[in-house]
Amino acid sequence: MIAPSMLSADFARLADEAAVVAGEPGNGADWLHIDVMDAHFVPNLTLGLPVVESLLKATSVPLDCHLMIEDPDRWAIGYAEAGAYNVTVHVEAARDPVALAADLRAAGAKAGLSIKPGTPLEPHLDTLRHYDTLLVMSVEPGFGGQQFMPEVLDKVRAARRMVDTGHLTLLVEIDGGINADTIEAAAEAGVDCFVAGSAVYGADDPGKAVRALRDKVRAAAPHRGWA
Ligand code: DX5
Ligand code: ZN
Repeated sequence: MIAPSMLSADFARLADEAAVVAGEPGNGADWLHIDVMDAHFVPNLTLGLPVVESLLKATSVPLDCHLMIEDPDRWAIGYAEAGAYNVTVHVEAARDPVALAADLRAAGAKAGLSIKPGTPLEPHLDTLRHYDTLLVMSVEPGFGGQQFMPEVLDKVRAARRMVDTGHLTLLVEIDGGINADTIEAAAEAGVDCFVAGSAVYGADDPGKAVRALRDKVRAAAPHRGWA
């Protein structure tokens, strides 16, 4: 799955920018990745629930909301209630991530848990049993256009093993620095869903960039059943 990050889109034209990557079923964006930043958990400030509510009316592509905010225990539920498909919170910010996942699911969303590059996976494995997606950050959260950190792929491989052996049931998602040069390594490590911001919206033809990234994944990991 490919999830273009709208952080690199033109914020004045979000509906059009969503349409540009929507494509046809099977060749367009699977999810639209929406980066919510509060200038506290991360140094940057982006958009919040009112913009997500408007975007939900403007696109049929499922929204993947990545909340880089403090106090997600209080704020994340609003995104689920609004109709976001997947709502991801940071384990470094959540007070009670197990209760939060239950609340998100009860509101009809998938629950996602994200870990920063320096956050280990092992202490959170029990928590992850309550989640539908694991978002492995491959840059320090806060800004698009940063360089991919290949060392996080060890966590992807470990999560992949846990899923393939039935110890976890979730999608493994990666976010940060994913482009034509880095996506194959991530695919080989076992990623299910690839977030790409600048590699999609920085391209002359964002729709074509999505298709090119998916082709790279299929070539890199045909045994995963995508070819
Ligand atoms: C960074 C965000 C990412 C960002 C990725 O904190 O979480 O989703 O948009 O951008 P690229 O793909 O340019 O690294
Ligand atoms: Zn993100």
